[in-house]
Amino acid sequence: MDKKIRFVKAESEKELRQLAELANEIWHEFFPGIITVGQVDYMVEKFQSYPAMVRQLQDGYEYYQFRLDGRTVGYTGIHPEDGKLFLSKLYLKKEYRGLGLASQAFDFLERYCKERGLKAIWLTVNRHNDHSIRVYEKKGFVTVREQAADIGQGYVMDDYVMEKPIG
Ligand SMILES: CC(C)(COP(=O)(O)OP(=O)(O)OC[C@H]1O[C@@H](n2cnc3c(N)ncnc32)[C@H](O)[C@@H]1OP(=O)(O)O)[C@@H](O)C(=O)NCCC(=O)NCCS
Repeated sequence: MDKKIRFVKAESEKELRQLAELANEIWHEFFPGIITVGQVDYMVEKFQSYPAMVRQLQDGYEYYQFRLDGRTVGYTGIHPEDGKLFLSKLYLKKEYRGLGLASQAFDFLERYCKERGLKAIWLTVNRHNDHSIRVYEKKGFVTVREQAADIGQGYVMDDYVMEKPIG
């Protein structure tokens, strides 16, 4: 796509509440093929509700909305830690996938790292999230380990940890 995303930091209560709504929509559209609806409900509340995102911001996380033609078409959540960037969230609305917008997001994140001297980007991805894994590999990420994270109420996140050096 020729059109360029604008990356707008979400900081106000209104922006964060809109982002929580968007997260709820995307997660319920995308994840039920991979995890149960019960786990999606639980994870949205625990990680992507308005109060959860406010707590994350207090812990140094940053959220950026992807703005295109006056609409928010996706978002990313990031956290610089120990000289690396943790890419915590990267989500596009369904109708905006496959257009190269994630590549624009990776360009943005790599610039972000270079400006701050961060030496790598790392992320976790569900082991059954095949498309995302292929995209991450195409963008230069390699799997460094597997992890099973107990997130409470009997739910587990079965993930790969992937990392890309920034040079
Ligand atoms: C993951 C996600 C953000 C990727 O966005 P996308 O729009 O599908 O990806 P893009 O079209 O921007 O493609 C990004 C790159 O991957 C490549 N790519 C896309 N599909 C590919 C495939 N099946 N195999 C190999 N490469 C692929 C593209 O060619 C592009 O590379 P390039 O720009 O270097 O040529 C998006 O699919 C999404 O929101 N998925 C649902 C939510 C999700 O799973 N988020 C991640 C949770 S960890």
